[in-house]
Amino acid sequence: TERTLVLVKPDGVKRGLVGEVISRIERKGLSLAAMDLRTVERSVAEEHYAEHKDKPFFGELVDFITSGPLVAMTVEGPRAISAFRQLAGGTDPVEKATPGTLRGDYALEVQFNLVHGSDSPESAERELKLWFGSL
Ligand code: GTP
Ligand code: MG
Repeated sequence: TERTLVLVKPDGVKRGLVGEVISRIERKGLSLAAMDLRTVERSVAEEHYAEHKDKPFFGELVDFITSGPLVAMTVEGPRAISAFRQLAGGTDPVEKATPGTLRGDYALEVQFNLVHGSDSPESAERELKLWFGSL
């Protein structure tokens, strides 16, 4: 079994899509090991997205992630990391995410793409420490 960090980003919380995200996670057969609604400090957002710190959109990304409450979850199950990335769909909700995925069904813009999921075991370990203090 594996653990991954999932975020329902502030756009998803504002639009009332938290239940839909949880529902798809559960229907897939994954389970929740922790969940918390919180508004994060810039320092946490900057650390979370450290790999993108030199990208032109970094400022906007941090502004957005700290713009309001988000839901952070530890999601658990066999191959949970790839399983959730597949449920989420590609980063660009129109060009990459296909219908049937969360982003493909519910998002239009790269910046407002609804969810985050860790992209590797190393990222999951780092992110779960940052968000929940442990793996
Ligand atoms: P996350 O799960 O959020 O990490 O998304 P991802 O792994 O599918 O994409 P990536 O890590 O490459 O990018 C992180 C986030 O930065 C994306 O989810 C987008 O919200 C945002 N992002 C990526 N590319 C762009 C861009 O060109 N413009 C803007 N404004 N945001 C971007
Ligand atoms: Mg990413």
